[in-house]
Amino acid sequence: MAKTGTAFGAPLPVPPIIDPASRGGAFDLIIQEGKSRIVSGSETATYGYSGPLLGPIIRVRSGQSVTANVVNRLPMLSSVHWHGLFIPSDIDGPFNPIEPGQSWSPTLKVNQQAATTWFHPHPHGDTARQTYMGLAGLMYVEDGSAEAFDLPREHGVDDLPIILQDRSFGPDGQLIYDRSPMAMMHGSRGNTTMVNGAVRPVSKPPAGLVRLRLLDGANARNFRLTFSDDRTFHVIANDAGWLAEPVPLKEIEISPGERYEILVDFTDGKPVELLTTPDHNGRFGDSIAERAKQLVATMRERREAVLRFEPQPAPNRPKHVLPKALSAPERAEPSRAVRRRTWTLDSMMAANMPMMRASGAAMDHGGHAAPASAGGAMPGMPGMANGMRMGINGQVYDANRIDADVALGSQEIWEIVSTEMAHPFHIHGATFRTLTKAGKPVAAHEAGVKDTVLVDTKAELLVSFNQPSTRDKPFLFHCHVLEHEELGMMGSYLAQSST
Ligand code: C2O
Ligand code: CU
Ligand code: CU
Repeated sequence: MAKTGTAFGAPLPVPPIIDPASRGGAFDLIIQEGKSRIVSGSETATYGYSGPLLGPIIRVRSGQSVTANVVNRLPMLSSVHWHGLFIPSDIDGPFNPIEPGQSWSPTLKVNQQAATTWFHPHPHGDTARQTYMGLAGLMYVEDGSAEAFDLPREHGVDDLPIILQDRSFGPDGQLIYDRSPMAMMHGSRGNTTMVNGAVRPVSKPPAGLVRLRLLDGANARNFRLTFSDDRTFHVIANDAGWLAEPVPLKEIEISPGERYEILVDFTDGKPVELLTTPDHNGRFGDSIAERAKQLVATMRERREAVLRFEPQPAPNRPKHVLPKALSAPERAEPSRAVRRRTWTLDSMMAANMPMMRASGAAMDHGGHAAPASAGGAMPGMPGMANGMRMGINGQVYDANRIDADVALGSQEIWEIVSTEMAHPFHIHGATFRTLTKAGKPVAAHEAGVKDTVLVDTKAELLVSFNQPSTRDKPFLFHCHVLEHEELGMMGSYLAQSST
């Protein structure tokens, strides 16, 4: 088994950057199988976009139209969802299935402020497994503001993508996708943390200010990040835009689908490690007091180092300083909301308990019997097979049902309620501002423009609907624990002009 205690080794992989503007406004994405060296001694069968694992970074200037030439070379259906791009629903991805051997060429009119967005599969029933096998890529939207703020912006040098994911590997080095009822209930987790597809890699940035674009690309796991010397870093951006000013923090929690950009000062040249605590989320039925105890216990001594920085002297490089101000998001005005809706993310514990019990055996060996092999048959709906269900407001996702009709251009307050555990809630085709979390005003570092938020007990969001959708290809909203989404914790909405 891959151990988490292995030494630091490989250099941090940095995906290549593609500028479609220099290629006639188009880029290729081949959805493919491949072999990757992740754990020592073996080649792991993986999936990737135009490579064996993960994908290239597409860099687009806001205002540009770019055409994605997507080809599916997997032996099963796939699709590509542009998570964080604000585009009409007919090219959003989930309802644009790409059969094996077929292609899809949407033209994306990118028009939004600078942000780190990403893309991943969204074929209902196989999203979680395909993502777990390695399909995820980044898209950077740029608008000139990084230059205006004089942020570090040399890709792979002082502007680094940091894709955090957890995976489990079998003794043969192959990925194990745990689809036991227990794993479905908590979301499938792994025992090994990867950064950009590598285990405990080393990055050698210049000794100076460095920009890290963090993405939680895990199926279910939250990461609570700190540095080994507890240094302060500054949060500069949320999922879909800048904060008003850099927010100092020593620790940040990121949940599946979320992005945070941070600036870290390595001027002292000292090596330092990025640590995460074990994930305390996903223990159903624990009392609040029990959870709090676990939280404290996991806080410090059990932190795991996932990435090591060894800053290099760089006397001749441009020196960047922490900007005083960035770009203040538009004021969130709850009074502008035209209505309020409540969505309860429902784990349907009572209904699922019999399945959980009946599979006691499966829980023991963790459902590890059938590794998710790259060429494996399309597994269908993993959780559905054993009858488990999850939903929103008591209803399991139904592709034939529209859960909300919203007026295009309007704002609404969505109150999200989480049951049993904290769920990362995501809305397609819309941005929101978090107003409150667990009844308290949102913290400064997550007060920016977002599309995904970790909801522990409840959150109030002021959502702006500015992209149109159609009845046959509506927008979706769902829990970004991909197993929960597949079990039915998803709904659809229509955004149309009311004329
Ligand atoms: Cu990244 Cu429907 O999600
Ligand atoms: Cu999305
Ligand atoms: Cu969930």
